[in-house]
Amino acid sequence: MHIVIVGPGALGSLFAARLRLGGAHDVCLLDHDPERAALLNEQGFLFEEDGTSHRLALPVVTEPAEIADAELLLLCVKSAAVTAALARMRGHWPPRALLLAFQNGIAHLDPLAALPAACTWGLGVTTEGANLRAPGQVRHGGHGLTRLGFVTPRSDQARQQLAAASAAFNAAGLPAEVVPDIRDRLWQKLLVNVGINALTALHDCPNGMLLELPDARERLIAAVQEAAAVAAAEGVALAADPVAMTLQVCRDTAANLSSMLQDVRRRRPTEIAAINGAIVAIGERLGLATPVNRELTAAIKALEQGFTRDFS
Ligand code: PAF
Repeated sequence: MHIVIVGPGALGSLFAARLRLGGAHDVCLLDHDPERAALLNEQGFLFEEDGTSHRLALPVVTEPAEIADAELLLLCVKSAAVTAALARMRGHWPPRALLLAFQNGIAHLDPLAALPAACTWGLGVTTEGANLRAPGQVRHGGHGLTRLGFVTPRSDQARQQLAAASAAFNAAGLPAEVVPDIRDRLWQKLLVNVGINALTALHDCPNGMLLELPDARERLIAAVQEAAAVAAAEGVALAADPVAMTLQVCRDTAANLSSMLQDVRRRRPTEIAAINGAIVAIGERLGLATPVNRELTAAIKALEQGFTRDFS
């Protein structure tokens, strides 16, 4: 299978390395940034997993026209970059390709839904942990499960493509399954991210530390409860106890640095708008108060403004 990974960030680099190491796939990456692509083509990738380091060469291309024969596209750019990434691919969409989008939050659903009908896409929700030390240097931070599915009914051919994608993940040592309720799964992960990401970024701490800081733990619980009320009003089927589930993820990923903390430490824009910000926006539309999510969103946006000022 010819697999193209769009975006050489933490998750994209992890998928690329694992698929290349674990299977007989033709894997390449698509990057909008020519300087970074040149660096990655020159230096290759360093992939750390379970105490072992692997060096590998993976081609990185910059022009969407170069991926015309792709069969599977894994969209691994940050949520805020989805619209631009899809716009670049417009006019170059590989005719046989299935695209699977792996963003945190729910903000990517609208740009995906606006794609032309001929573009087949689905969603991926993963609990694999990926930490990017530097471009091309990624650590498999924790083993997880990847769920794949369609939001709307699709053709038999598309369902076969999805099953083949799931098989490719499994063959490469990335446990995966096709699920009928991927939108609910996306929201379930959103609630976990609502509870963990902003607070770890604000406290500059690994996920497990939120359990030890009484104020952080209290705000985690309140943020998840607000988001669960919003999700229920949106008709989402939630896990039995979203708060317990989020606290369990803190325990299971205790040493992990959340993706938002990694962004803040690198002084890069975060996914706050797609996570806590999305809960605030939908809550407003539904007439539901979300004060804790509002406060967390404002606090992270204030941090981001600091980055902009430093750069200007
Ligand atoms: O965004 C992340 O970092 C992850 O989704 C999670 C589950 C919070 C673990 O760090």
